[in-house]
Amino acid sequence: MTESKVRIGPSILSADFLRLGEQIAEAEAAGVDFVHVDVMDGRFVPNISIGLPVLEAVRRATKLPVDVHLMIVEPERYAERFAAAGADFVTVHVEVCGHLHRTLQGIAAAGAVPSVTLNPATPLTTIEEVLPLVRQVLVMSVNPGFGGQTFIPSALDRIARLREMIDARNPTCLLEVDGGVKAGNIRRVVDAGADTIVAGSAIYSPDASVKRSVAALRGALS
Ligand code: DX5
Ligand code: ZN
Repeated sequence: MTESKVRIGPSILSADFLRLGEQIAEAEAAGVDFVHVDVMDGRFVPNISIGLPVLEAVRRATKLPVDVHLMIVEPERYAERFAAAGADFVTVHVEVCGHLHRTLQGIAAAGAVPSVTLNPATPLTTIEEVLPLVRQVLVMSVNPGFGGQTFIPSALDRIARLREMIDARNPTCLLEVDGGVKAGNIRRVVDAGADTIVAGSAIYSPDASVKRSVAALRGALS
């Protein structure tokens, strides 16, 4: 993957929610490619974050693609509503999708890009059958639920194996990685086969401006 083609998006989970519009504008000005919205229900993951009203506000705040990551049980109950509320991508977890094929079809029919993700302990084979149906697979490189966690090293091998599966079965499918990606490891993540990177605490950090943080991630790839 050529560095210039790598897509980078901030997870707004680490943003200052009191200044969410500004924080999205700062990321946009810094040249990010999409905005990642983490929806947590306190059941699938041990944390509660944000939902449809905030997504609607994010939708009004940016023209960039909005990438919604649903960390909720029974995602089929809400996936199409998130698409209707302005999500360009809707990602569901294979671990909580009894009818994954139907749910992904519903997302596409609602006008969003169907995307699937798996936790670090979930075998890649669980998404093999739906690979032709999705336009993005998200590899979790932390256990979902919180920003600011440490990248799990075994994710690199999973990214490499998924890259082979995607190249063989659906070569235009995006391979996104989420969790613990920083300037210090983004190169390895991309070299393993990722083309789309989510970064939360690395972009919305108290130590540097959003502009500098995005530049540091890009710089690590050049
Ligand atoms: C974790 C979320 C991630 C998280 C990324 O459950 O899905 O999107 O916010 O944050 P960092 O980059 O800080 O790990
Ligand atoms: Zn996420």
